[in-house]
Amino acid sequence: MWGSCFSCHKSGGEPSQVDREISAIIKVKIYKYKEIRQATDDFDPLNKIGEGGFGSVYKGRLKDGNIAAIKVLSAESRQGVKEFLTEINVISEIQHENLVKLYGCCVERDHRILVYNYLENSSLDMTLLAGGYIKSGIQFDWRTRSRICVGVAKGLAFLHEEVRPHIIHRDIKASNILLDRDFSPKIADFGLAKLMPPNMTHVSTRVAGTIGYLAPEYAVRGQVTRKADVYSFGVLLMEIVSARSNKNTRLPQGYQYLLERAWDLYERNELVDLVDTGLNGVFDGEEACRYLKIGLLCTQDNPKLRPSMSTVVKLLTGEKKDIESRNITRPGLISDFMDLKVKGPVEKKPEEVNRRSNYYTNLSSDNASSSTGTRDNSNAYSSGASSSTAVSTLSSTI
Ligand SMILES: Nc1ncnc2c1ncn2[C@@H]1O[C@H](COP(=O)(O)OP(=O)(O)OP(=O)(O)O)[C@@H](O)[C@H]1O
Ligand SMILES: [Mg+2]
Repeated sequence: MWGSCFSCHKSGGEPSQVDREISAIIKVKIYKYKEIRQATDDFDPLNKIGEGGFGSVYKGRLKDGNIAAIKVLSAESRQGVKEFLTEINVISEIQHENLVKLYGCCVERDHRILVYNYLENSSLDMTLLAGGYIKSGIQFDWRTRSRICVGVAKGLAFLHEEVRPHIIHRDIKASNILLDRDFSPKIADFGLAKLMPPNMTHVSTRVAGTIGYLAPEYAVRGQVTRKADVYSFGVLLMEIVSARSNKNTRLPQGYQYLLERAWDLYERNELVDLVDTGLNGVFDGEEACRYLKIGLLCTQDNPKLRPSMSTVVKLLTGEKKDIESRNITRPGLISDFMDLKVKGPVEKKPEEVNRRSNYYTNLSSDNASSSTGTRDNSNAYSSGASSSTAVSTLSSTI
């Protein structure tokens, strides 16, 4: 029996029309706000485990004893109850061993809260990329990393190719890859883009935070397709192999951007230099370089040249062996474009912009920060922004 956070009956006991409509669409567990408050000790800051573009995340113990990650969505994402529940229903029905499980939600008054399965080993950004694998004692050996890469690829292939309508994640990055107690990876936050109102994409509000993962055609022109996720996955793959973030400004010029560095080493046939030295040489060099090449394949500038996620899975597992014969073209990089935005007033001549930002001819800050939800040709479930102002010039072959 579901708990309920809203009144299901009129004062006379008869369900209202709205109540009837709502009960017809509820398939998820509905938590009372009171239970969520109790679970988090009244949202005690000590129980806060993170803060992202959608709101704050707390660790809490539910009444049934389960430990949960409780995501309190920020004010901007407060949709009506019906719209919210419709989207949550879709998310809750999607289950795969490499996706985080949604327990349920709370929609009392204007609270919009999601309750997820709590993952014991946190996210990749807090562990592997934070150097925490030394501090926390977690040993990310090569086998573990390889399992994480394949697991994430499988989860994404499932969202892209098996779920109908397909789901484009739009925010694949290290903080959205959680690890259970056996270090099996779980993709978090899939479908959440759909909960954001059209005039506020979560990405555009925090471009600086996630820019390193954004496919150029998405960041610059607002084109959201599955290939934008493939690009982000490629960046993530290289981060996992190298144990470094896609951007590190403490490094000397030329070394700061992982993709740039990877391309440079690839051209010199020295990709192995990018593999994490923390592995102390204990890894399969051929396999690690293959992974890095797959990362480069995924981050190619032209989205059509990037493989589908099911192909990525086969390339990673070795079921497809043709990586060596594949022509890999230069990655799409938007670091230079971001420098222009972040540094602001420094004007650059158009020719210089074009040259430095790898082929982007139509850079405008409007494009970069506008609401960018568009559907790909496969009827994908990617964004609530149906009236988006994005430039929708998607090729039907992407
Ligand atoms: N189910 C979960 N189990 C354990 N920790 C979680 C869970 N969900 C989130 N976290 C932790 O909370 C942090 C913040 O997550 P949140 O999703 O709010 O932000 P983010 O991933 O950094 O950005 P985004 O809003 O783009 O997803 C994560 O980095 C992770 O460490
Ligand atoms: Mg997240």
